[in-house]
Amino acid sequence: MTINYKFPEGFWWGSATSATQIEGAAEEGAKGKNIWDYWYEVEPNRFFEDVGPKETSDFYHRYQEDIQLMKEIGHNTYRMSISWSRLIPGGRGEVNPEAVAFYNKVIDELLAKDIEPFVNLFHFDMPLELQEEGGWESRAVVDAFVDYAKEAFRLFGDRVKKWFTFNEPIVPVEGGYLYDFHYPNVVDAKRATQVAYHTAIASAKAVEAFREFEIKEGKIGIVLNLTPSYPRSNNPADLRASRIADLFFNRSFLDPAVLGEYPQELINILEEHGQLPVTEKGDKELLKQNTVDLLGVNYYQPRRVKAKEHLPNPYSPFMPEWFFDHYEMPGRKMNVYRGWEIYEKGIYDIMMNLKENYGNIESFVSENGMGVQDEHRFLKDGEIQDDYRIEFISEHLKWLHKAIEEGCNAKGYHMWTFMDNWSWSNAYKNRYGFVSVDVKTKERTLKKSAHWFKQVSNQNGF
Ligand code: BG6
Repeated sequence: MTINYKFPEGFWWGSATSATQIEGAAEEGAKGKNIWDYWYEVEPNRFFEDVGPKETSDFYHRYQEDIQLMKEIGHNTYRMSISWSRLIPGGRGEVNPEAVAFYNKVIDELLAKDIEPFVNLFHFDMPLELQEEGGWESRAVVDAFVDYAKEAFRLFGDRVKKWFTFNEPIVPVEGGYLYDFHYPNVVDAKRATQVAYHTAIASAKAVEAFREFEIKEGKIGIVLNLTPSYPRSNNPADLRASRIADLFFNRSFLDPAVLGEYPQELINILEEHGQLPVTEKGDKELLKQNTVDLLGVNYYQPRRVKAKEHLPNPYSPFMPEWFFDHYEMPGRKMNVYRGWEIYEKGIYDIMMNLKENYGNIESFVSENGMGVQDEHRFLKDGEIQDDYRIEFISEHLKWLHKAIEEGCNAKGYHMWTFMDNWSWSNAYKNRYGFVSVDVKTKERTLKKSAHWFKQVSNQNGF
């Protein structure tokens, strides 16, 4: 068979998941509550079909079977997250021995199967007690996070070499403090800015702590969802709108994490509108000295932007949307099952931007995938025929391949996600996995894409 797209030797093939979305056992193993457990208790109807995070995909009890499946479908790497409220119930203080035992078993099982674990510390799951103290608005919570990170490095750093401080830190800012789709459902840009700032500081402090551990061959990174911003036209107003959207939604985390400083233009905008966060002495140096080694790029869809058609009412509360409007590009390709645009070249544009403007930092695609509603309609002879997912992945891989040929430092591809999982307020609405999960029985079945991916990984290309 001819391989048209061959990837560099040692390429990382795998998938990503997060603790709250797959573990289940939310009330077992002495786990503390996080904001998702709590939010579901008080507002179950905010969740698709009223399904909460209690059981999810039951990885907690089925991790051996799942890791065996990862092996079978060609994973050489796998990203998971630790649940902060499982490792340290309440967010501060003593570690929970049952959690240590569980994560040790998972890590050892992965290593025994030659699958390198990539471990992320925070994937949207703030311990409830810390949220009650103010969550990321509180500087004391930043310190609690650093203590948690240190415990994780100490407990698992002998075996885990790739660490990540945060997954998509902009999402809790958007969801929890701007657009009302995560707890605590605040809509207030000034508070959002403080949350974003503290998260960036928490990440830099965790990087600083990581360096002190001197983990042999260890690398620390961050996972960012980058949504390249494309202007409607080249007229100056559209270009400016697109640049500002990029500042708010990409560069607000990318620049401090990789370059160690915020873009001056973003600072100017926030300052002009009285939105600057509270900072502490020494923060600038902290950011500058603690940039990441490795960048995970989550890419799902682009952002299409045009100039604001009507000036914002100066009496309405400040929002990023004061500066731009979104628009739907005519003729765009869609994932009709999820309602998101598909633009495969976006992955190439992101990688070229990292090469040209971010020192060609070592990176990888840490999430990319296709959510599909009612996926059982594609079931035939006991297997979901997800040809659309195979096409989605391979078209993105072609662009990633081109970026690598042109000198980008991209080292791998992780699909979102290993198995169908519970996704925040969307619960089990959109299925993303290589492995289908029966929500009731928890039975696992490989989809067609899983067999295809095995081949891709085995041949290191397609
Ligand atoms: C990513 C997140 O942004 O999107 C995942 O890191 C999430 O946690 C995924 O599950 C898909 O989201 P959704 O809303 O389509 O289920």
